[in-house]
Amino acid sequence: MDFKKYKNDFPLLRENPNLSYLDSAAMALKPDCVINSVDNYYRKYGCNVHRGVYELSYEATELYENARKTIAEFLNADIEEIIFTRGTTSSLNLVASSYSSFINEGDEIITTELEHHSSHMPWFNVAKKKKAIIKYVSLNNDNRITLEEFKKVLTKNTKVVAITYVSNVMGFITPLKEIIKLAHEYNAKVIVDAAQAVPHMNVDVKDLDCDFLAFSGHKICGPTGIGVLYGKKELLNMMDPIEFGGDMADEVDMDNQTYKTIPYKFEAGTPIIAGAIGMAEAIKYVSNIGLSNINIYEYELKQKATNELSKIDGITIYNKTAETGIIAFNIDGVHPHDAASVFDNNNVCIRAGHHCAQLITKHLGVLGTIRASFYFYNDMNDVNNFIKAVKEAKDFFGKF
Ligand code: ALA
Repeated sequence: MDFKKYKNDFPLLRENPNLSYLDSAAMALKPDCVINSVDNYYRKYGCNVHRGVYELSYEATELYENARKTIAEFLNADIEEIIFTRGTTSSLNLVASSYSSFINEGDEIITTELEHHSSHMPWFNVAKKKKAIIKYVSLNNDNRITLEEFKKVLTKNTKVVAITYVSNVMGFITPLKEIIKLAHEYNAKVIVDAAQAVPHMNVDVKDLDCDFLAFSGHKICGPTGIGVLYGKKELLNMMDPIEFGGDMADEVDMDNQTYKTIPYKFEAGTPIIAGAIGMAEAIKYVSNIGLSNINIYEYELKQKATNELSKIDGITIYNKTAETGIIAFNIDGVHPHDAASVFDNNNVCIRAGHHCAQLITKHLGVLGTIRASFYFYNDMNDVNNFIKAVKEAKDFFGKF
C-alpha cells in the first residue's frame, strides 16, 4: 500500500517539508478534510444544537448526531452508548466519579504501572474517599501486563479494573480480551483507556466486551477538546450524571428533577459541536485508509528505526518488542530534555519526560524517556532524520 500520498493531505507537512513529526502519540496532525469540516460547521451553521426551533439548528443537530452515529459504527457500539466528552481524561474521570457510588469500603480496584495518570489517578482518588483498596498488576520481566500477573491480584472483592489498551510510554498492547473475560467471571467492571489504541488499530467494543472505553479526538487526526466515552447501556442507565444543567434535564421542579436518557444525561451544557463533527470526519478519513493498514505501516517504520537505533552504542531502548509505532529510549548519560533540544534543532519533534505516566518511569528507574511515535503520514525520511538527530545528540553531549 502506498502511504506517500497521505502526507500531502496535511497542511502542516505540506508547508514544512523538512519537518519530521514524531509526536503523534501526544497529538496527531490534522488533514484538510477535518479542518474543512470544522470550518464548514462554523461558516454554514455556527448555531446551537438540540435547542433552536429553526431549520439551521435542526441541520446542525443532524450533523452532530450523525457524528455520534459514525463513532458508534466505528466502535461497533449502539448510538446511545456514545458520550461526547472533552477527551480521554474527562471520559475516565466521568466513569470514576459516577461509578464510585457503587464502590464501598474494602472493595478492590485493580490498575497497573503502565497507566497514564488519567487512567489510575481518578480511581486512586475514589479509593481514598471510599476506603477501597488499590492493587497494581505486577509487570513481567519485559515490563508488560500479562494475564498471569492479572490473575494474581483478581479476587472476589475486585469491583473495577482500570487498564490501558496500549501504553503511551511503551507502546505495548495489553492482552485485554482475556483480562476482561476473567474480570467478568468475578463480576468486576473493566474501564479501558484506549487513547493510544483507537487511532492505531481496529477496536470493537462488543468483541472486547469492555464495560467502558475512552479515547480522544486529537490523537486520531481530529480536533482538540473532544473525546468519547463508550459505556454499556445497562451500566450508563444505572449511573448518575456528574454535571448538571442545560440540555441534560428532563423535568425540573423545585422539589424534583429528572434527567434525559443516555447519552444526553451525561452531556450537560452546550456540547462540543465542532469537535464532534471534526472527530467524525477524522474517523472516516482513517477508516478509509484502514486501521489494520495503519497498524502494519507504522509498526514497520518503528521497527526500521529501532533496528538503526540498536546499532548505535550507548542507547537504551526500553520497548524493542512493542507492537505499535512507539519507541521509548534514552541516550545513556543524557537527560531526555537535553536530548530533545538537539532533536528540535534538527526539525524532529519528539516527546521527552515522564509522559504523564510516572509509575512506569519510576518502575524503569529513570528520570524520563525519549519517545518517538510514528503514524501513517511518516516515512523513511523521518526515520533517517530521527537517527541523524540521535547521533548528533549523542556526539554533542558525549563531549562533556
Ligand atoms: N497522553 C499524551 C501523551 O502520551 C499527551 O503524550
